[in-house]
Amino acid sequence: MTELYPVPGRVSSGSPSPIPDLPAYREAYARALDDPDGFWLSVARERVRWRREPTEGLAGDFHSVLESPLSWFGDGQLNVTETCLDQHLETRADKTAILWEADQPGQGRHITYAELHREVCRTANALHALGVEKGERVIIYMGMVPEAAIAMLACARLGAVHSVVFGGFSAEAVRDRVRDCGAQVVITQDEGRRGGRTIPLKSVVDQALEGERGVHKVLVFRHTGAEIAMAPGRDVWWHDVVPGAGDSHEPTVCGAEDPLFILYTSGSTGKPKGLVHTQGGYLTYTSYTHQVVFDLREDDVYACVADVGWITGHSYIVYGPLANGATTMMFESVPTWPDAGRYWDLVERYGITIFYTAPTAIRALAAQGDRFVLAYARSSLRVLGTVGEPINPDAWRWYHDVVGEGHCTVVDTWWQTETGGIAISPLAPVTPTKPGSATLPLPGIVPVLMESEDRILRGPGEGRLCLAQSWPGQARTVWGDHPRFVATYFTTYPGYYFTGDGSRRDRDGYYWITGRVDDVLNISGHRMGTAEFESALVSVDAVAEAGVVGFPHALKGQGVYAYIVLQHDQVASPELEQTLNAAVRAAIGAHAKVDLFQFVPGLPKTRSGKVMRRILRKVAEGQPEALGDVSTLADPSVVDAIVAGARKL
Ligand code: WT7
Repeated sequence: MTELYPVPGRVSSGSPSPIPDLPAYREAYARALDDPDGFWLSVARERVRWRREPTEGLAGDFHSVLESPLSWFGDGQLNVTETCLDQHLETRADKTAILWEADQPGQGRHITYAELHREVCRTANALHALGVEKGERVIIYMGMVPEAAIAMLACARLGAVHSVVFGGFSAEAVRDRVRDCGAQVVITQDEGRRGGRTIPLKSVVDQALEGERGVHKVLVFRHTGAEIAMAPGRDVWWHDVVPGAGDSHEPTVCGAEDPLFILYTSGSTGKPKGLVHTQGGYLTYTSYTHQVVFDLREDDVYACVADVGWITGHSYIVYGPLANGATTMMFESVPTWPDAGRYWDLVERYGITIFYTAPTAIRALAAQGDRFVLAYARSSLRVLGTVGEPINPDAWRWYHDVVGEGHCTVVDTWWQTETGGIAISPLAPVTPTKPGSATLPLPGIVPVLMESEDRILRGPGEGRLCLAQSWPGQARTVWGDHPRFVATYFTTYPGYYFTGDGSRRDRDGYYWITGRVDDVLNISGHRMGTAEFESALVSVDAVAEAGVVGFPHALKGQGVYAYIVLQHDQVASPELEQTLNAAVRAAIGAHAKVDLFQFVPGLPKTRSGKVMRRILRKVAEGQPEALGDVSTLADPSVVDAIVAGARKL
């Protein structure tokens, strides 16, 4: 028996949510299932400020995505910043929109809706003067400063397509993205700050753009004041062009299905894919889910401590909360700086009511002991969210019992870059929770577990998680490669969207996500492809072949395990391991690192030359007894060498 946690009184009383109780959830779920168009059109009309209200719901289906891309609200017209900013000028002009906490504790800024509107207009005017037009792509490579959100919204104001690249990615990764989306403008800052350290941003952009002809302007926000090189004619200081630009800006009217942004994410094969999210559906979905999951109230102080470089930051720091007129925090630092009490210091100082973070941070903080939590008042908290990876029940209970003192609802929110917004999660005022379960699907989300290629599992059991029905927040395509979008998500189980995750379903219909079933790694909530690691490793001359898999890691969720076959004249050494990790850092970024190297005489391959990754995984997981059938291997003796030399942390 797993424990069932009822919704605490502090959360359930007086919820203004359109789904305030379980019967309302069941009713909304049934309506979205029976009549998705009617359900979502009414949500869209209610939550979004349209220039032309949509009359069309969904066009297309999961069978014909290749020929006709999915479309929601196709005849609607809008500019998303009118929902996120202009509409609030009437009722919330002086309300804090962005609460910025700088790396240095206690430093930061409060930006009201009126101020944010003005800054976005100025920045849109400045970008327009630099030549940015509707439909053009703009790369944003910044840290967690308010100007990152302002830059995103300024692009949206112009109908330009932003692609935010997390500030930890390497020059090579930035260059790949600039090229792939054909960006002509990059927005960056001199340096970022994180945990008392500075992070080079502008110099990485310079490296990324070396020899690139496509980018003609780089807009640079000054943050730390460090000396940086400015390329004449190309580089422009933010403070030279934004403050003097006009305070008002007539927004560009866009079609509901025009792209809003591209966000690159890792898959099982090849380079990261640029997933495309569109204007009307994405805004409707992030606004709705932000309200119903977190039980947003007018005076909430809402803090999602993710980075805007990931989808969590796009949907639940910027677009969802601003559409809802919330006060949303941007946090520049890390949970352990200056010490492990930083989050709870924030909670006390700002009176945070809704707090949203990742299991990896919760595990790291729990490991430091309770005293860092108990040192701060946390009575303002009402809802505690987690996202990014499965949360182990122990970490869940610590979050619930110690951080929330049992008074808060913990919402374990399952979703993906591809889903645009939360898909399976408790609704804070509604759903009884179980530690470690993402619980129930949101209205409009129809999960299906696949037992095998064409067998759907009914009732309790474990299978591969697919979604059977489209929802407005769903990514529409891969930038420049629609066939790849279809091949990745809609061919494994024809007629279904395949998530890449496995899941269990219990007797109560609750979902327990078990993690990726493909070659995607989830390291501290960061999604990375094994193929990206392998290509970085084989780029080193000494390496003949590389096979990379994940293994269970107590703090990071997963660690990275690399099997390396060296060229015949090479020998393994700690220095070589450092060289290999330097190559990984250069190809991907500072957040990517191999934890364990094993040098092997060969990789286990079938007679047709395919690497049997199952064997690599089992040995890395410390289960060499569970290898299964190895008789189809070309050379079974490599398995003995692999098992004999297995590494452990
Ligand atoms: C993958 C998506 C969604 C924003 C952050 C990650 C894993 C995400 C959960 C959760 C178990 C989770 C899945 C998913 N994941 N949330 N609550 N429980 N697993 O977005 O980088 O696109 O990664 O993260 O494996 O497929 P992403």
